[in-house]
Amino acid sequence: MSERLEDIAAAMMRDGQGILAADESSGTIKKRFDTIGLTSTEDARRDYRELLFRSTEAMTDYISGVILYDETIRQKAADGTPLVDLLKATGSVPGIKVDMGAKPMALAPGEKVTEGLDGLRERLNEYYGLGARFAKWRAVIDISATTPTYNALKANAHALARYAALCQEAGIVPIVEPEVIMDGPDADHTIDRCYDVTEWALKTVFEELYVANVSLEGMILKPNMVIAGQKCPTQASAEEVAEKTVKCLKACVPSAVPGIAFLSGGQSDEDATKHLSLMNAMGGLPWKLTFSYGRALQAAAIKAWGGKPENVAAAQRAFTHRARMNSLAALGTWSA
Ligand code: 13P
Repeated sequence: MSERLEDIAAAMMRDGQGILAADESSGTIKKRFDTIGLTSTEDARRDYRELLFRSTEAMTDYISGVILYDETIRQKAADGTPLVDLLKATGSVPGIKVDMGAKPMALAPGEKVTEGLDGLRERLNEYYGLGARFAKWRAVIDISATTPTYNALKANAHALARYAALCQEAGIVPIVEPEVIMDGPDADHTIDRCYDVTEWALKTVFEELYVANVSLEGMILKPNMVIAGQKCPTQASAEEVAEKTVKCLKACVPSAVPGIAFLSGGQSDEDATKHLSLMNAMGGLPWKLTFSYGRALQAAAIKAWGGKPENVAAAQRAFTHRARMNSLAALGTWSA
């Protein structure tokens, strides 16, 4: 008998915990390793992920789930223990990125559509057998003077809904991630433009989820925060980001959704923590609000590690610190 989707989602959203996005594709992890001058080999990727998953305090007390990449879910630690078993031993739910990336959309200049639906049912069944109990699919929405268009928003929302339905059929909780990006090539948009596009994207996604019979109680939303583009000369205060993000989510996300876990999207480590904490401190939210950060949980750890075995403990301390700060933010009690 498989576990109920609601119970898996509740375990992922338990109080004061959040999700570690460690599902960088081979191309993305290479970019991260380039910053420390490290060649991205299979062993280097394993060593790095093993270091994170063996950070006992972080993994036990602050991290409720980990998003893995296809290579990682099949990998073994240096001593032969499957990495998935390391996660399970800490109580973290293993998850898996299942999309095949955002590709240029035909006849839609500057827009992308996420691929990966073909064969997804079979892949989900295999991942379930490997221990995955949740999955992630990311749609990328870029703001420019001419984008997004309804064409691209609709295609991405439709793909997210088909993915989410296949996940639920397989006993896997879908993380539905429509990311309005803040660090794209033309990202000089204001916070209010981000609000409008995020609202449009979320409304479109929830319409498609409804049509596809997806159970809202058995999914988690992974949205961007409502925030100005990185190149916008006018950056909003942390209070404004928190207030506009909650306003937008309340207008778009039904209270049947058990949890919302933000991406960090290129925010500084501390901003990502502060924004989350301010939102939770507001109180009166209809869903759990936590983190599903990649960069904001890992940047300091990668830097401290530098690819050197003698720095493993320092990297684990850096990761544990960010995880603890974000745990406080998930409770709304973080302060600088
Ligand atoms: P960031 O927190 O680095 O944006 O990554 C989260 C993620 O999983 C994006 O898909």
